Amino acid sequence: MRSTLVSQFGDPRQVIALVDAERVAPGPGEVEVALSLAAINPSDLIPVTGAYSARTTLPFVPGFEGFGTVARVGAGVTSLKPGDRVIPIGASGLWQEYLLRPAEWCFALPDDISDRDAATSYVNPLTALQLIEAPRVHFGSLEGRRVGVTAAGSAIGGMLMKLLVGEQVDAVGIVRSQRSADRLAVEAPGRIVLGNEIRLPDLRLDAIIDAVGGPFAGDLILRTLEPGGAFIQYGALSGVPVPQTAILARSDIRFSFLWLRTWVHSAGRAAIEAAFAKSFDGLRSGLFSSRIAAVYPLSQLDAALAHQADAGRDGKLLLDPRC
Ligand SMILES: NC(=O)c1ccc[n+]([C@@H]2O[C@H](COP(=O)([O-])OP(=O)(O)OC[C@H]3O[C@@H](n4cnc5c(N)ncnc54)[C@H](OP(=O)(O)O)[C@@H]3O)[C@@H](O)[C@H]2O)c1
Repeated sequence: MRSTLVSQFGDPRQVIALVDAERVAPGPGEVEVALSLAAINPSDLIPVTGAYSARTTLPFVPGFEGFGTVARVGAGVTSLKPGDRVIPIGASGLWQEYLLRPAEWCFALPDDISDRDAATSYVNPLTALQLIEAPRVHFGSLEGRRVGVTAAGSAIGGMLMKLLVGEQVDAVGIVRSQRSADRLAVEAPGRIVLGNEIRLPDLRLDAIIDAVGGPFAGDLILRTLEPGGAFIQYGALSGVPVPQTAILARSDIRFSFLWLRTWVHSAGRAAIEAAFAKSFDGLRSGLFSSRIAAVYPLSQLDAALAHQADAGRDGKLLLDPRC
């Protein structure tokens, strides 16, 4: 079967190989999922670089998000049957034609969710839903709070803006380019400001939800957060951590980091099912829709990864493992 493999850490475009792998029958409690579409997310590529080398075992098949249909079930599986549409989660491995997962890590996908929506129904919607809980818990209520969202032009940034405005938050989307500002203005509600390491936006915020990190996040912490505020980090698109000096200088701020993987492995199946139900509702209403820039056959992985690295990319890329 068509598959991919990372055998050494490095530049994703150089170390993710297309390989012909053996198709294995599901064991007891497992299902084999014939994958239909998989997403390319920053969180798929970061482990490939070796950034989490202490908790990444080589070799591995990348891809944390996508969906497919059950092809075969192993002994003892009664909850699923061949033909069921499912979202397999809990481990990487979706950038291949067939995936084995324990049945309890596969979540039913409603028929009315389109293939493209299904392929992006997990990572960003479930993370966004968890992210807005951190300031809610910190302040007791979100209503009327001023919350900044960095990298607001990203797929998850747009979801956060819509979620926050829906909670009566004064949401401020911070984007690094006029192009993103113009696009976000069409797609999401809330205020939009330009901000980057050179040009710090003139803001006062109660909380910041950050995916950029580095000196820019440090400046935001030092110069825009009100006393007693909250800083929630969930990404480091700049490739640089938040400076410790900024964290140490603001002992009045509550700092936290959210990693979907940690939540998923501790939440339990009922909580994950409830989160998926909210994701599907959000996809039906458009709240969690992701703009799709292109769908590539998995056999054209090189072209897909080149497009992913292109700064002009205008939306998510999907892989079709069937071709
Ligand atoms: N912690 C978790 O569990 C978790 C879960 C999901 C996502 N994430 C993180 O969320 C982030 C966004 O993910 P996504 O899937 O939404 O990505 P995406 O749709 O691919 O969007 C990335 C966008 O972010 C903007 N960007 C990139 N580098 C930036 C920088 N240095 N400063 C400001 N903006 C920058 C760019 O937009 P413009 O250039 O157009 O402005 C780019 O198009 C990633 O860091 C990802 O790892 C974390």
